[in-house]
Amino acid sequence: MKRNILITGGAGFIGSHVVRLFVTKYPDYHIINLDKLTYAGNLANLKDIENAPNYTFIREDICNYDAIKEIFKQYDINGVIHLAAESHVDRSIKDPFIFAKTNVLGTISLLQAAKDSWNGNYEGKLFYHISTDEVYGALQFDGTLFTEETKYDPHSPYSASKASSDHFVRAFHDTYGLPTIITNCSNNYGPYQFPEKLIPLFINNIRHGKPLPVYGKGENVRDWLYVVDHARAIDLIFHKGKIADNYNIGGFNEWKNIDLIKVIIKTVDKLLGNPVGTSDHLITYVTDRAGHDLRYAIDSTKLKNELGWEPSLQFEEGIEKTVRWYLDNQEWMDNITSGEYEKYYDEMYRNR
Ligand code: NAD
Ligand code: DAU
Repeated sequence: MKRNILITGGAGFIGSHVVRLFVTKYPDYHIINLDKLTYAGNLANLKDIENAPNYTFIREDICNYDAIKEIFKQYDINGVIHLAAESHVDRSIKDPFIFAKTNVLGTISLLQAAKDSWNGNYEGKLFYHISTDEVYGALQFDGTLFTEETKYDPHSPYSASKASSDHFVRAFHDTYGLPTIITNCSNNYGPYQFPEKLIPLFINNIRHGKPLPVYGKGENVRDWLYVVDHARAIDLIFHKGKIADNYNIGGFNEWKNIDLIKVIIKTVDKLLGNPVGTSDHLITYVTDRAGHDLRYAIDSTKLKNELGWEPSLQFEEGIEKTVRWYLDNQEWMDNITSGEYEKYYDEMYRNR
C-alpha cells in the first residue's frame, strides 16, 4: 500500500528528525510536512532534504479544520504522525491560552479531519500522537519510574494541555474506532533544538560567556534521550505498534540538572580549547520555575520487550556529538538568536 503520511510540526526539533528519517528511509512514501512555522519552526532544520521528490511542505495551522480536511483529500493521507505543539513549559506559565488552543483544539481538529476523511474505512490507517512523560506529573527521589499505567497528574499548563490532547486521542478511538497510538517520551536532546531549552541555551551562552540561569538549586532530575533514538522509536511504533496502545520512550538516563550542566560546561570548554574550569563561573542560580516538577524518569521496558527498541547512543557520546554540532553550526544558532530565520520564511511563504 502506498503510504501518504502527514507529519505535523515537522519543522520543529523532533519533527525535523522524524521527517528526515522517513523521507530518506522510505523513498516510496510521500511525506507531507505540515507546520505553521511558529517561532519554533525553522525550515533550515530540513535544508538537506527539502528538494527530495517524496517530500512536500505545507505551511498551515493544525487548528484550521477545513484546510486539514482538504489536505487529507488532496494527498490521500492514510497515516498521521502528530508532533505539532507548543512545547516550552516556561512559555506555558506566561501564556497558557495558546497551549490550550494548539495542543488541545489543534489536536481535536486533526482527529476530526482524520475521522471525517477516513469515514469508517480504517483499514491501513493510523493516527499516531506524540506526547510527553510530563503528563504523568512528578516523581520523588525514590527510584520509581513512570510506566504506561502511571496515572495522569499534570502540573504545568503545558503538561495539562498535552494530557488533555492524549485524552481526546483515546476518546476518538473509544468513541469512533479511530485507529490511534500514543507515545510518551522523556526529554530529548540533539541537533536543531530551539535555544530556549536547557541544553542548546546553555551551550550558546557558554560560547558567548553569558550567565547560565540554573532554576532553584539545580536539583531537579530529567531523563535524557538522543533525539535520533526517539525518531527511530517513532518509526518502529508507526509500523509495528499495536492500535489503541500507548508506549513509553526513554533513555534510562537520569541526570540532576546541575550535574548535567557541569558536563555541558566541561564539554564546551574542551571543544573550544579552553582550560578546564574556564566557564564554571557562569553558573548562576536564579528563582525556581513555578510548579517545577522534581523528577521525571521513564520505564521503557514495554517498548523493549514488545518491539525490541533500545537507545543506540550512550549519553557521553550523545552529549559530545550534540555540543560539537552546535559549535559547528553557529550560523544556524545565530540566525535564530538574531531573528533572521523568521524573515527567511516570511519572504518565502507570505502570500501562499
Ligand atoms: P518544537 O517546539 O521544537 O516544535 C514544534 C513545531 O510545531 C514547530 O515547528 C512549530 O512551528 C509547530 N507548530 C506549533 N503550533 C502549530 C500549529 N498550530 N499548527 C501547525 N504547526 C504548529 O517541539 P519539539 O520539542 O520538537 O516537540 C515535538 C512534539 O514532541 C511535541 O508534541 C512535544 O510535546 C513532544 N515531546 C517533546 C519532547 C522534548 O524533549 N522536546 C519530549 C517528549 C515529547
Ligand atoms: O520531559 C519531556 C519534556 O521535556 C517535553 O515534553 C518538553 O516539550 C520539553 O521542553 C522538556 O521539558 P523540560 O521543562 O524538562 O525542558 P527544559 O529544557 O525547559 O528544562 C530542563 C530542565 O532544566 C528543567 O528542570 C528546567 C531546567 N532549566 C531550564 C532552563 C530553560 C534551568 O534550570 N534553566 C533554564 O534556563
